[in-house]
Amino acid sequence: MCGIVGYVGKKEAKPVLINGLLRLEYRGYDSAGIATIEDNHLIKVIKDKGRVNQLNENAEINSLTGTIGIGHTRWATHGKPSGVNSHPHLDNSRCFAVVHNGIIENYAELKEFLISKNYTFLSETDTEVIPNLINYYYENSSNSSLEGNEKFLKAVIDATKRLKGSYAIEVLSSLYPDCMIVVRKDSPLVIGKGENENYISSDIPAILSFTKDFYLLNDREFALITRNDIVFYNENAEKIQKEIKNITWDAGAAEKDGYDDFMLKEIYEQPKSIRETIGSRLPKDSISVIEDLALSKEYLESIKKIFIVACGTAMHAGLTAKGIIENLCEIPVEVEAASEFRYRNPIVNSRTLCIYISQSGETADTIAALKLAKSKDAKTIAITNVIGSSISREADYTLYTHAGPEIAVASTKAYTSQIVLLAILAINFAETLDINNSKVRELKKEILLLPGKIEEVLKNEQEIKEFANRIYKEKDVFFIGRGVDYTVALEGSLKLKEISYIHSEAYPSGELKHGPIALIENGITVISILTNPLLVEKSISNIQEVVTRGAKTFVVTNQELNHNFDKVIKIPETSPLISPILSVIPLQLLAYFISKAKGLDVDKPRNLAKSVTVE
Ligand code: G6P
Repeated sequence: MCGIVGYVGKKEAKPVLINGLLRLEYRGYDSAGIATIEDNHLIKVIKDKGRVNQLNENAEINSLTGTIGIGHTRWATHGKPSGVNSHPHLDNSRCFAVVHNGIIENYAELKEFLISKNYTFLSETDTEVIPNLINYYYENSSNSSLEGNEKFLKAVIDATKRLKGSYAIEVLSSLYPDCMIVVRKDSPLVIGKGENENYISSDIPAILSFTKDFYLLNDREFALITRNDIVFYNENAEKIQKEIKNITWDAGAAEKDGYDDFMLKEIYEQPKSIRETIGSRLPKDSISVIEDLALSKEYLESIKKIFIVACGTAMHAGLTAKGIIENLCEIPVEVEAASEFRYRNPIVNSRTLCIYISQSGETADTIAALKLAKSKDAKTIAITNVIGSSISREADYTLYTHAGPEIAVASTKAYTSQIVLLAILAINFAETLDINNSKVRELKKEILLLPGKIEEVLKNEQEIKEFANRIYKEKDVFFIGRGVDYTVALEGSLKLKEISYIHSEAYPSGELKHGPIALIENGITVISILTNPLLVEKSISNIQEVVTRGAKTFVVTNQELNHNFDKVIKIPETSPLISPILSVIPLQLLAYFISKAKGLDVDKPRNLAKSVTVE
């Protein structure tokens, strides 16, 4: 995880770096730091444990006046959060400063090598080996004819050749005070081009207010960046050309727009984000259109299984999509956590289609799971929200959710957009296969009605807030549901634990009797989702069982219920296949208001990061 930012230009670097780091804090916030090259050509570093705002209040920060600098916000992996473990890290000569996002898997071996060469280390991090290795190769370059920036570049290339693992790195050198070198492998890094100034960041939104012109680096591509120039190299130090991409996102999309928190804003954006996801993919009088996807009827008929692989909330979207695809396309679907899939030698071959869902497109396990399927001849489709993200460069086909930037760590609008896009994909497959035509027509109609129905659900905010204020001090909460409602129970439970730190469990309603009911006692809260008319009676019996044992009940339903539950949130009816898109919204709001009532930082919950680029 971690976020990195950089600036090379005419202005003071510090405000640009702080601004970028504040926007990248969703990637981790255990510590923050920046380094600039000052007028005397020395590198100055200010860093400490804690958040970017604390760094910005550090009395010394105003002493940084350099116009070239790097910044880092950390999600600790190797070494506890502390001042000394914070980035940037310097080499022993203080000539090279590095910020790093990723993990150097062979750092212990490299550290031993460097110690044998008389290098010393201050921190417990994996990163500190990088500036020292650069120094080592700089001092011991095999090619003494190299001069100027090329000598610096060669040392970075040689050092990174020794690294195993993942990295996005920015390197400053006091010996080359006008430039910065950056490189990435399996961790994201983008370069924004300005007028006589250039920006570097882990993601596009963090620097979108400065430029809309971006270069996206591929693995093991290097860039030597000065104020007026960006020159790209491959790992043989040969110059390469890269295309610039103009990003059309509105910079304001990454602002709070008057909402207290990004999460609340993103919950309220769902009618819009779903409209954007649908876009022109469901034309009124013809079959669905999915850009850049060309799977033939013969191919779809040959498929024996579809795997949907993802992590966290994205995997929950996959669980809902399983029902949609199986129903419409009649192909068995298996949903699996990427971290499990990648290590268990799954049965995958050319007759398997593998779909990977990742909001960020950078989740390390999901990308590794995709590479595994590719190596076994399966076709791969990536569903992501971030244009140009790593996963989009690995998959055979990439479908974008177009939900706009999602900043809050807890995912909301990305989840609903993922389900919508997967539903459109299922429609597209069924149309290609020419099966289940009436179901397809019905689902299309219902998808188009979703934005308006979400607006209806959002009107329950006050009631949900009141219930949140009743239960926010609780220690345990249970979520139950059957079928598709169970997939929402899982997502509601995840939202609650992520941002309120309340222990919660999600169970299929019918499983309650097989153990968990032993935990139900007077006053405990059971949240129940009940949207499938065919399962209403059975689900109500399950709710009654917990009420009998003293539970408080919060029920999200589209059915008319004549029961005395503590709180019933009524949502509009839709196709049972996509009901999670509506039923999840009260659960998102409930988690949000519970977290607020507890006075927690909703957007940046403890120990979490939005983009998990380490396994
Ligand atoms: C982290 C985030 C979750 C997210 C998951 C997968 O755990 O906290 O909100 O669902 O990663 O992220 P992805 O970007 O791959 O969808």
